[in-house]
Amino acid sequence: MIFDTHAHYDDEQFDTDRDELLNSMEESCVGTIVNVSATYESCRRVIRMAEKYPMMYAAVGVHPDEVGSLDEEKFAHMKELLTNEKVVAVGEIGLDYYWDNESHDTQKKWFIRQLELARELNLPVNIHSREAAQDTMEIVKEHGRSLKGVIHCFSYSKEMALEYVKLGYYIGVGGVVTFKNAKRLKDTVEAVPLTAVVLETDCPYLAPEPYRGRRNNSTYIKYMAEEIARIKGVTGEEVVRQTEANARSLYRL
Ligand code: NI
Repeated sequence: MIFDTHAHYDDEQFDTDRDELLNSMEESCVGTIVNVSATYESCRRVIRMAEKYPMMYAAVGVHPDEVGSLDEEKFAHMKELLTNEKVVAVGEIGLDYYWDNESHDTQKKWFIRQLELARELNLPVNIHSREAAQDTMEIVKEHGRSLKGVIHCFSYSKEMALEYVKLGYYIGVGGVVTFKNAKRLKDTVEAVPLTAVVLETDCPYLAPEPYRGRRNNSTYIKYMAEEIARIKGVTGEEVVRQTEANARSLYRL
């Protein structure tokens, strides 16, 4: 069954048909979804949803664009939320120098704090990194070593992907892999062993071809699996089977 390792079903784009959509996942061969928080406010929301849907789990953390709203009190509350039995990871956390919403120092500070929280609670991490390749690698090497984790929506070079794999991290691949102009990601998928790849939607964003530009959802992962299968010269079933096993190992499910 398909395992979506990174989704945002609390997003308002799902307000009109969330229940219907999530209840139809099983018939589309989607077995497990990890619903990931981005803002501090969404930490509670993703847990509430995971408690409602048996096939859904939650990741709790604050995205680099949003860390300006964090303080010690909120951080302590997040730590409490992370002990919920349906929470499987700290995420999404990281660095985003593309939007650059917060200063690099603020982003780095809360990235490191959240990595250390994951270590303290013995949880894997879901990492967001955009146009911050060097700083992310340095921080992961210093503060994320020996943690389990995934670099979600991987957008860097295949050399860097292999470096993460060596550190024991998984490479998160989503809809972008189906885009015609995504040569770099296709090269990365070719270079990285299938045992280090996990599938994700990041929905409602980043829908694959043939739905590019529209609202994404976990049933579209089959298009990503087919493209990865083509690149790797294996079957789509094999991609789904191996990436599900990888995701279970990552999130300890
Ligand atoms: Ni995301």
